[in-house]
Amino acid sequence: MINLRISDLTEYANDVSMSLSSDFQRHNASNIYNYIVKKGIESGGRIIVIDLSGVVQADSFSRLNGYIINTKEAYEVVQEGMDTSYGFHKIYDSDDTGNFTWSINMVSAIIDDSRTVGAVIIVQSIADIVQRINQIQLRYYVIYAVSMLILIVIFGFLINRILYPLNELRKGTEAISGGDFSKRVKVSGRDEFASLGEAFNTMAVRLEDVDRARSDFISNASHELKTPLTSVKILTESILYENGVEESVYKDFLGEIDKEIDRMTELVNDLLFMTRLENLDPDALPIENTSVTSIVDEVMDSLRQIADQKGILLTKDLRYTGNIDCLRGHLKHAISNLVENGIKYTEQGSVTIRTSKENDSCVFEIIDTGEGIAKKEQEKIFERFYRVSKSRTRETGGSGLGLYIVQRVAVLHNGSVSVESEEGKGAVFSLRIPISASLKRSASDKEDK
Ligand SMILES: Nc1ncnc2c1ncn2[C@@H]1O[C@H](COP(=O)(O)OP(=O)(O)O)[C@@H](O)[C@H]1O
Ligand SMILES: [Mg+2]
Repeated sequence: MINLRISDLTEYANDVSMSLSSDFQRHNASNIYNYIVKKGIESGGRIIVIDLSGVVQADSFSRLNGYIINTKEAYEVVQEGMDTSYGFHKIYDSDDTGNFTWSINMVSAIIDDSRTVGAVIIVQSIADIVQRINQIQLRYYVIYAVSMLILIVIFGFLINRILYPLNELRKGTEAISGGDFSKRVKVSGRDEFASLGEAFNTMAVRLEDVDRARSDFISNASHELKTPLTSVKILTESILYENGVEESVYKDFLGEIDKEIDRMTELVNDLLFMTRLENLDPDALPIENTSVTSIVDEVMDSLRQIADQKGILLTKDLRYTGNIDCLRGHLKHAISNLVENGIKYTEQGSVTIRTSKENDSCVFEIIDTGEGIAKKEQEKIFERFYRVSKSRTRETGGSGLGLYIVQRVAVLHNGSVSVESEEGKGAVFSLRIPISASLKRSASDKEDK
């Protein structure tokens, strides 16, 4: 707006100064005066004519005649030879109230024969522009304030959206650190926070499972130890507080105590084996390349006596006799567990260890002619401490850890174990172990990626 006004005024002032040129040369004061009064009214301002020293020659308001005008813009035109120049000035009201309006002074040189001989000053108020600017400024402030308000509301909303789930997660983490694994966070929407919340809940479920498994394990292990301990206690007390007990009775009781101690030893050994298994570093397993035949022979040698005692035929059927990569001691332990079960849960008949090759795995099948396992029990028997109820009541001993250990060993070798059986028709346990550890390893590495 100011620029537009300046360019308008420049043109107007140039017009006036041109028109005044000849009268100014001829010092025709009345012509000049009449002209500037007319032009002054026309432009809604005041017009002053000065000479080269800045002395006022004519003033459309007839007040400043003879005064010297020494504003910067006048100086630039009459002294420095500029064609036009302008400046802004405060014009104070005459009533001494200190109120003022802004005006623009447009100075244009009066030129005669391409020489500056004087200048025309057009003084025009720009109060209207100032008022417009003030109005625009006010509108701008209002828009600014409203936008800020909207932004604050939006930010507040966003921050709340971020802080609320974070706060929920913090509370959840604190609860879990404090041991309350039942804590879950509310998941809403489908953004990153929702997936973070879901991940948190999954973790909480896992932790809860682990925690439950841990306490189950402790209570099961204690329970399994308590049973033989109670027996030992009763047996001991009954001979301790009885007088004149015959030697044969002593022997009987001590024999029972010995059996209970064997049971406890077996259980503790299983527990120790299990914890060692769980603490193995999967990246530094002491894998050996060993012959399948030697493992089977060693297992049979160690269990032959028990089989013979029960009158059970222990045989082997080696269809694969090569080598395999394995944790030899662990694998032997697992096969032993299976053969021991076969002998334990078979009243008469045989237990056979068969080896064969299937794809890249060696399959150890332990086949017995015993009581078999009902279908609904088959998936549970691999759980820790699980025993089919009739085995519990019977005098077979055992902790229910045997098959769990077999399964852990199978998984450690990237293999598997499964059972096929029908009640009363014997059972076949199949333990699959990859022949080459590296082969299977790299395959599972690829899956991970
Ligand atoms: N060969 C088998 N024939 C019949 N039942 C079996 C056989 N092997 C295992 N079982 C059943 O599976 C249960 C779990 O076996 P296991 O984990 O070795 O525990 P344990 O032998 O200490 O009882 C056994 O209690 C038994 O009931
Ligand atoms: Mg067993």
